[in-house]
Amino acid sequence: MPLTPFAKRLSHEVAMTSPSLAAIILAAGKGTRMKSRLPKVLHPLAGRPLVAHVIAAVETLAPERVVVVVAPGMTDVAEVVAPHQTAIQTRQRGTADAVGAAHAALSGFTGDVLVLYGDTPLITSETLTALVAARTGPGQPAVAVLGMRPADPGAYGRLVLADDGSLSEIVEFRDATPEQKAIDLCNSGVMAVDGARLFELLAAVSDDNAKGEFYLTDIVGLARERGLGCAVVEADADELIGINSRAELAEAEAIVQNGLRGAAMAEGATLRDPASVFFSLDTVLGRDVVVDPWVVFEPGVVVGDNAHIRAFSHIEGATIEAGATIGPYARLRPGARIGPGARVGNFVEVKNAELEAGAKADHLSYIGDARVGSDANVGAGTITCNYDGFDKARTDIGSGAFIGSNTALVAPVTVGDGAIVGAGSVISRDVPENALALTRAPHAEKPLWAERFRGRKSAKHKEKG
Ligand code: UD1
Ligand code: CA
Repeated sequence: MPLTPFAKRLSHEVAMTSPSLAAIILAAGKGTRMKSRLPKVLHPLAGRPLVAHVIAAVETLAPERVVVVVAPGMTDVAEVVAPHQTAIQTRQRGTADAVGAAHAALSGFTGDVLVLYGDTPLITSETLTALVAARTGPGQPAVAVLGMRPADPGAYGRLVLADDGSLSEIVEFRDATPEQKAIDLCNSGVMAVDGARLFELLAAVSDDNAKGEFYLTDIVGLARERGLGCAVVEADADELIGINSRAELAEAEAIVQNGLRGAAMAEGATLRDPASVFFSLDTVLGRDVVVDPWVVFEPGVVVGDNAHIRAFSHIEGATIEAGATIGPYARLRPGARIGPGARVGNFVEVKNAELEAGAKADHLSYIGDARVGSDANVGAGTITCNYDGFDKARTDIGSGAFIGSNTALVAPVTVGDGAIVGAGSVISRDVPENALALTRAPHAEKPLWAERFRGRKSAKHKEKG
């Protein structure tokens, strides 16, 4: 079962589209504080790009359109967000200007517009649903803003409330007075806006502020000036953290990992040291799986019931079936399929290869582009030589076969069912079923030769000495 709730919101649930809702996700910012060549929103969190987290949360509301605003040349972001459309913000002149860049993509749309930031990845669909609902709540506000009270309000924009508890304006930290800086209610950046008013409000935003940018946050004050209502919906600050630096990325990772660990245990897995196990959002664990300390699950891993993942294993794109044992110190790479009850031991690397039920590779091996038949035994130090510098080739090991230690299987090659390969062999031709194959040089032996050798040598050295 998937690790709810974090995984749940990425499950692309099929829902009816909501014709009255569109979402704009801002992702064109330079992300300067990340000091990275990679666009900020593509930095991975629990194995998924930041922006993909936001999209997944939004998708559960089934908006009619999703538009991601990117900077020119961000084709890598466009690829990640496809099939959703992207709009290009020519110059990064602020969040209001960025929303404006989505205008053409929303032509003809008059419903509610949800604005989100691509760098706020922990937002949940429940919170978004509550925010959208506020638009039709008391006073029918034209703008509903998601607020939070983080332990450290830092440089977030501050939400200034009117006496009646409605939202009066948002001030950016750099533009705030000392009294406003003391406000602990902060802007998460997420808002739901009446689509019939949004672009008219944006057009009135100026760049007369500390950063010389067009702030989206100004639309609140502008809406009030026009007699429109604005409201705040408060949500958990942990869910609304914005990622601007590597340190904040690490904080968010810690929050997500804690959630995933908790979910894994709640679903029936034992984590002996939860803090040292790292999951991806899509990791799926069965019942009674035991995970020892220091295990990393990269994306695409499914683990069956009763499997045991031992310490220091690194697993990516692999399927581990019921009752299998992995590690300690195993590396499973994409396309590894470990069958029921099979064993992959220490310093064994498996890539694009299947170990069928009960097969064993317990020590020091590389198994790539291969099938290891049921109950076959792959001895210590066996290598499938799958690559000649140009092409990959397959190795097929039959059921019940026994591969002696330190064997090189030069692919393409087949070892038949029940065959035995002698230790230290280099196998480059197919081995028939139940045959013995060995390429070992014959064993030569000279009785007492060593003793005579030592006698000769020591006599010579005495003469000299
Ligand atoms: C913004 C809010 C602040 C809020 C904080 C929450 C504004 C003016 N400020 O500040 O009130 O507390 O988020 O995390 O909105 N972007 C563009 N184009 C631009 C500028 C930004 O697409 O020209 C995108 C960025 O890629 C990012 C998002 O908008 O995804 C937010 O921009 P960022 O510069 O991080 O805003 P903050 O200073 O964090
Ligand atoms: Ca930000």
